[in-house]
Amino acid sequence: MLTSPPDGRLAIFPGSFDPLTNGHVDIILRSAHLFERIVVAVLVNAEKKPLFDADERMAIIREVFTEYPNVEVESFDGLLVDYARQRRASAIVRGLRAVSDFEYEFQMALMNRHLEPTLETVFMMPAEQYTYLSSRLIKEVYQLGGEVRGLVPPAVEQWMQRKQARKP
Ligand code: PNS
Repeated sequence: MLTSPPDGRLAIFPGSFDPLTNGHVDIILRSAHLFERIVVAVLVNAEKKPLFDADERMAIIREVFTEYPNVEVESFDGLLVDYARQRRASAIVRGLRAVSDFEYEFQMALMNRHLEPTLETVFMMPAEQYTYLSSRLIKEVYQLGGEVRGLVPPAVEQWMQRKQARKP
């Protein structure tokens, strides 16, 4: 349970962000308009073999949002509601791209509400041109030699190029 009331101005945007896409950027910018402060919370150990480790994912997001003082970047482990309680956030922001996202997001939102009734989940729709984007597809396309320009921020493309160049 919460020991002190949540901060109505603070929302958390949690995710794996491996890597950050322009769809994520769109949702972060929209939430930064709605809330005074937004914490982009990177889940540690989301996948067994991520492209970028949590520190790299955080560094990338910080680089992209360097000019947005109300966008913070942190990592978290364990239950999202525990992290949200610790930050005293009032809301979790999630992006909804299509109906196919709905079932999973609905389950998560209701489970999180069961675990912490005071924490609201707020869904936001990204701009239409990003509705087909996912980190998984970006990685697949890039690793198979496809073009990802315009789908991820330039900083992400650079990090991906460096990662590819270091591959044995
Ligand atoms: O970007 P993703 O991978 O869809 O984000 C999923 C995320 C990080 C929001 C979800 O996996 C999560 O909250 N994980 C933390 C563990 C947790 O709280 N699980 C119960 C969720 S109901």
